[in-house]
Amino acid sequence: MSAPLSSQHDKQAHAARTHQWSHEKDDRWTAVDRYATRHLFPPGNAHYSAINRAIELSEENKLPSIEVSLLQGKWLQAQCQLIDAKHVLEVGTLGGISSIWLATSGPDVRVTTIEILPEHKAVAEQAVAHAGLTDRVEILLGAGMDILPKLREEVESGKRPKFDLTFIDADKPNNLNYFNEAIQMSRSRACIIVDNVVRRGQLADDEAAKTDLGVSGARMVIEAVGKDARVLGNSLIQTVGEKNYDGVLVCVVK
Ligand code: DHB
Ligand code: MG
Repeated sequence: MSAPLSSQHDKQAHAARTHQWSHEKDDRWTAVDRYATRHLFPPGNAHYSAINRAIELSEENKLPSIEVSLLQGKWLQAQCQLIDAKHVLEVGTLGGISSIWLATSGPDVRVTTIEILPEHKAVAEQAVAHAGLTDRVEILLGAGMDILPKLREEVESGKRPKFDLTFIDADKPNNLNYFNEAIQMSRSRACIIVDNVVRRGQLADDEAAKTDLGVSGARMVIEAVGKDARVLGNSLIQTVGEKNYDGVLVCVVK
């Protein structure tokens, strides 16, 4: 039984619910993505072949097509360059496309990336090898919450340097757990980025937050970060483009 539509506002809200995803694609977003990519990531770019081969390998091996877009990957690369990141942590390797973006942010950047599925790791290894990055991208096989505490022990005992930037892009219910591990391994002024926290706008939908583990996972990390005294700066950036309407949470470690 639905409530009467008593106002224009209610009508709009009703339309938004019944056509929930009508706003998830927009020809202008796709056109702008393509235009900008053509100019900012042309075939002459030093990493063009590495990235495009990685994308092909993911397609050939039928990995889920949830990887970062070209401009999103390039944005991650630029974040590393901004803070002169040398040691980068990634949770959720998938086919290694974002790992390659991160590792190519500089000639001496090292990426430690965690992947739970052996078949994804195998694809990422091929992509990283084609990119000539095997000695700078370490792919660890296992669940994030099995691997991260071990990495943290290595950081705490001085066997590994602290991380300058972390990209969290794995199973969404664990976002906050990954964040809590990552922040303990981060240097002062490190950056922690959590992918896919807007989820086509469902982030703001209280009903979705009750039923969708991706939305509740996004809310948990955002709400915790807002109260976390270890965090110096933070914001959320909504993103549109060729892919779905989504966004990233960005944090600066105190
Ligand atoms: C999903 C996961 C991602 O990491 C992403 O970038 C997009 C979507 C998902 O689980 O739906
Ligand atoms: Mg993602």
